[in-house]
Amino acid sequence: MDITRIPFQIHGDSRGMLVALEGMRDVPFDIRRVYYIFATQDSVRRGQHAHRTLTQMAVAVRGSVTFLLDDGTGPAEVTLDDPASGVLIGPMVWRELHHFSDDCVVMVLADQVYDPTDYIADYDQFLREASAAVFPEVATAWPGR
Ligand code: TYD
Repeated sequence: MDITRIPFQIHGDSRGMLVALEGMRDVPFDIRRVYYIFATQDSVRRGQHAHRTLTQMAVAVRGSVTFLLDDGTGPAEVTLDDPASGVLIGPMVWRELHHFSDDCVVMVLADQVYDPTDYIADYDQFLREASAAVFPEVATAWPGR
């Protein structure tokens, strides 16, 4: 799949750097939730789910982490290690986070509040729903798929 990286504007001066993220301006959605992941072991794999409707932007504000992203057409990986850019993750994208550096802090901006019913936690179920979304007429004609 194609991965969308979004560079942010850096406001810097002799005191250091600052990035400001405003919904519908720096981030292409209204921000309704922010969460962050930290103190994760390098050997851990997180995520391992997709969302039916949620759109998110992930930023490694410190350290580095690798995202595997798959929209059903095949996986692609991107390593985030730059607090001045993010990766956009739309609906119906399977994601797995791995290779966290010891100091990694991943901040995620989301366009919806937390909703456990929006999760697809089974990869085969994700593939079924992703193919049904792309080819609805085929899915209708072949409901056993
Ligand atoms: P989980 O979805 O397992 O994290 P990851 O996808 O990174 O593996 O979330 C861990 C816990 O945090 C789980 O109990 C649900 C809770 N949680 C919230 O309460 N609100 C949130 O916005 C998120 C993302 C998770």
